[in-house]
Amino acid sequence: MLRQLQIHQLQVRFNGEQILNDLSFKVAPGELFAIIGPNGAGKSTLLKSILGLIHPQQGDVSILGDHRKVIVGYVPQSRVIDDETPISASDFVSLGQISGFLPWLSRKEKKALNEIMQFTDTKRLANKPIGTLSGGERQRVFLAQALVRKPDLLLLDESTANLDPEAQIQMMELVKNAAKEWGVTALFICHDLQMVGTYADHVLLLSRQGYKTGHPEDILHDRKLMTTVFHGSSSENGTMHHVPTESELPLAGFPQ
Ligand SMILES: Nc1ncnc2c1ncn2[C@@H]1O[C@H](COP(=O)(O)OP(=O)(O)O)[C@@H](O)[C@H]1O
Ligand SMILES: [Mg+2]
Repeated sequence: MLRQLQIHQLQVRFNGEQILNDLSFKVAPGELFAIIGPNGAGKSTLLKSILGLIHPQQGDVSILGDHRKVIVGYVPQSRVIDDETPISASDFVSLGQISGFLPWLSRKEKKALNEIMQFTDTKRLANKPIGTLSGGERQRVFLAQALVRKPDLLLLDESTANLDPEAQIQMMELVKNAAKEWGVTALFICHDLQMVGTYADHVLLLSRQGYKTGHPEDILHDRKLMTTVFHGSSSENGTMHHVPTESELPLAGFPQ
């Protein structure tokens, strides 16, 4: 189980453009932590920084586990699967096991595969080519692959995007159950604010102008803040932590 996930003064620039600027927050073990914000805010960049796929210019990500090495499961944004992709759902899930040097699965791995496919309700899809699955079924297969090693930390980049409401709920229920049953800590990027309100324990609202963390009700019901971030219709940043210009004093304190 994860003991701590802490992001400390993270700065990421691409080609001189500041994407993440002095971002700091903590995620508690076992919680469902939503990341919301407009397109281009840096949400995917943040997950990639946590994964170590992107090296920040400054700041650090500290991930501490209980005893063993921390295992991270990740479902990237908009994975493109060709309709003709011949790999079966169970083979695809099994790719997440990347275990030893044997080309076949050990008994333990087969058991884990079976368990996770049961858990994600993908067993009946096991032999189907993933190219033939519906959007919701594919996302459950992706989730199964990310979960098959029983990760301590699960990172989901818009796993519910483009799904019908029922499939969205099914996905979020699975994530919630994984948190409840194995104590997995989940960070999920989501555009559906209703889902965020229903499932998130805490929320990070991220934009290029700044960020804010808090309880879903505090963030989602802050109309001025939400309007500013999503529609840019106000010149003020409300109560966000924002990057001070020279004429401003830095905002004090850790976000919360
Ligand atoms: N590897 C990269 N190289 C250069 N620019 C990038 C790279 N990844 C993302 N960006 C840019 O960083 C910004 C934030 O991207 P991203 O993190 O994908 O935003 P979000 O997920 O919030 O929509 C975008 O302007 C994007 O074009
Ligand atoms: Mg993204």
